[in-house]
Amino acid sequence: MGIEEKGTGPGGIERRVGVGIHLKLFGFLLPLVILLIVSVTLMATEVTKSTLRRDLLQRGAAVSRVVALFAGHSMLSNDPLGLDRLVSETRASDPNIAFVAIRDTSDIVVAHDRVTERGKPYHPVPPLLPLGTFGDTRADEVVRDGRRLIEYTTPISFAGRRVGIASIGLSMEGLAAAQRSIQQRIYAAAAIILVAAFFGTLLLSSFITTPVKRLHQGVLSLANSETFQSVPVRSSDELGALTGNFNRMAETILAQKTALQKKALQLEEAYISMVRVIAASLDARDPYTMGHSTRVARMSCALGRRLGMDEEELSNVERAAIFHDLGKIQTPDDVLLKGERLSRAEEERMKNHPIDGSEILRMAPFLHRYIPVVRAHHEWYNGEGYPDGIKGDEIPLHAQLIALADAFDAMTTDRPYRHALSTEAAISEILRFRGTQFSPELADAFAKMMREMPPSDETMLKSMAL
Ligand SMILES: [Fe+2]
Repeated sequence: MGIEEKGTGPGGIERRVGVGIHLKLFGFLLPLVILLIVSVTLMATEVTKSTLRRDLLQRGAAVSRVVALFAGHSMLSNDPLGLDRLVSETRASDPNIAFVAIRDTSDIVVAHDRVTERGKPYHPVPPLLPLGTFGDTRADEVVRDGRRLIEYTTPISFAGRRVGIASIGLSMEGLAAAQRSIQQRIYAAAAIILVAAFFGTLLLSSFITTPVKRLHQGVLSLANSETFQSVPVRSSDELGALTGNFNRMAETILAQKTALQKKALQLEEAYISMVRVIAASLDARDPYTMGHSTRVARMSCALGRRLGMDEEELSNVERAAIFHDLGKIQTPDDVLLKGERLSRAEEERMKNHPIDGSEILRMAPFLHRYIPVVRAHHEWYNGEGYPDGIKGDEIPLHAQLIALADAFDAMTTDRPYRHALSTEAAISEILRFRGTQFSPELADAFAKMMREMPPSDETMLKSMAL
């Protein structure tokens, strides 16, 4: 799922395309899901805190009204014990209640949960923040004795006459603790949902992109038809239909590709057969070189096999060897068949045959691969050959094999101006030119091969038959 590297597969198909679609989809969905969860969490926290605050305010106001109601009876019936019991029981009913005070219309405290306050004037504190009114009860946020409180003030009335005021203080610490507790629970739930959302998003993006990935693999597989396998159709939706159509299209393409390859092979074989015939005809122009190309091909391949070449490479060596003197078709008979030493001009004309051969092969695109070898079969290892004067490893290996076989065959066949050399004499000549005309290693390998070759094989190599 990481960053993918670019590359080109068989048939020019783009194998990787930067960041994968899976990662892109995941990267697109995950921030959205996180944003949604965080927004919902913050909203839920705010709504819950607000609800808790409102409930607390209403609950405190209700308590204040109840205290005022009962205090009215006790005050009219002049029952100080009843008032004391009312304030102490109210104070004990909830640990968040900080104080309960009842005062008369002169603001003298007639009952208080702290008995020392009784009979003293009630000291109001300025409100920090008015929190609203609930019926006849007013709520304010205040700081009393260093503590933040919600102070409720409810008038005590009886029969339409005000007889006093009830005040209770409710600690805000309880509200803050309740808000912290609910906030922690919401955050814990949000964390669990976030983890689940991460894996859910991963799973969802995988679910969406897997069919696309399979199709991508199918396209790559199609480009390399040897390993193509139908893409499994796993759904009946549009992607499933697309996959099915892709499989049918791939089968059609593969069938056409196979037919085309077969035709191309047949065409190439026909062309090569034609060139073989031309090469044989060319050899036949000169009775002294009859079968030369075939013998050079056999010896080159025998050496290539000893060097460990596979069958495909040997086939290329064999064809290049058949074509190597094709350019001589443009060499006039009076030069090609001249029985005596060539003039400088004739020699130059003769030396043009590697270039002529290359130009003939250039006419057929599928024979282009043999051009470098045909062009270089008269190059020397030390750079003194022709037509380009390249040397050492610059000379294609196949051309170096053909050059050895060419020289050996020329020496071991009769020529108008000399008799054929013996095998051993020709090998000695090859070795004499190791490091100058021929690569030392290849010359040694060729000499070793010819010396180790049983006479029957040597006869076969020198046979003229195609
Ligand atoms: Fe040649």
